[in-house]
Amino acid sequence: MIKVAPSILSADFGKMGEAVQLIEKWGADIVHCDVMDGVYVPNITFGMPMVKALRKYTTQELDVHLMITRPEKYVGQFCDAGADWVTFHPEASEDVEGALAKIKSKGVKCGLVVNADQPFDIVEPYLDKIDMLLIMTVQAGFGGQSFKEDCLEKARRGYEIKKAKGYKYDIEIDGGVSPSNIAVCKEAGATIVVAGSSVFKAEDPAAAVKAMQI
Ligand code: DX5
Ligand code: ZN
Repeated sequence: MIKVAPSILSADFGKMGEAVQLIEKWGADIVHCDVMDGVYVPNITFGMPMVKALRKYTTQELDVHLMITRPEKYVGQFCDAGADWVTFHPEASEDVEGALAKIKSKGVKCGLVVNADQPFDIVEPYLDKIDMLLIMTVQAGFGGQSFKEDCLEKARRGYEIKKAKGYKYDIEIDGGVSPSNIAVCKEAGATIVVAGSSVFKAEDPAAAVKAMQI
């Protein structure tokens, strides 16, 4: 069954502790934390202190998505702050293998992200080293954007390689995901989906979560 990871980017930033408790109450599976530095993406959200603060409010897994330049400098600190997963964009890093190794050395699950404007090739050399392949179906930087279905081609490619090589990585689809497109995400090989606005802006967030746990 697909796991649903609501993104706190769409939550009330003035009540973030409450937001992660709601995520659990709604029956979701993972908390998706979007870290943005204003350099790799044209937006700024939060950093290690927020992850450290939220760690005390939930026992659910914290899935930290780093949209930052030179992530290798910070992955260790996000692990120490309490992240269960740390993913980053390889083209923003000058030491992809070092960053992946650092995350693993902390006993945390590691992953790489393919942004909407990036080719699948940027992650291909590392597929044997990751626990998660994150495929963006919007251009990183903002919540509430429209789902780019053509990006699913990259998820399908990741799924084919995973089957052919016997890799075990999760495939997470991130951006514009909702009950209306969950079926195509599943068909493309998704094991986890991120859902920000389709959950936090829903009439009935618990029902929206349930509709995506297919
Ligand atoms: C965008 C983030 C996504 C975003 C998803 O840069 O990585 O996780 O918050 O939000 P929705 O589901 O509203 O597109
Ligand atoms: Zn994200």
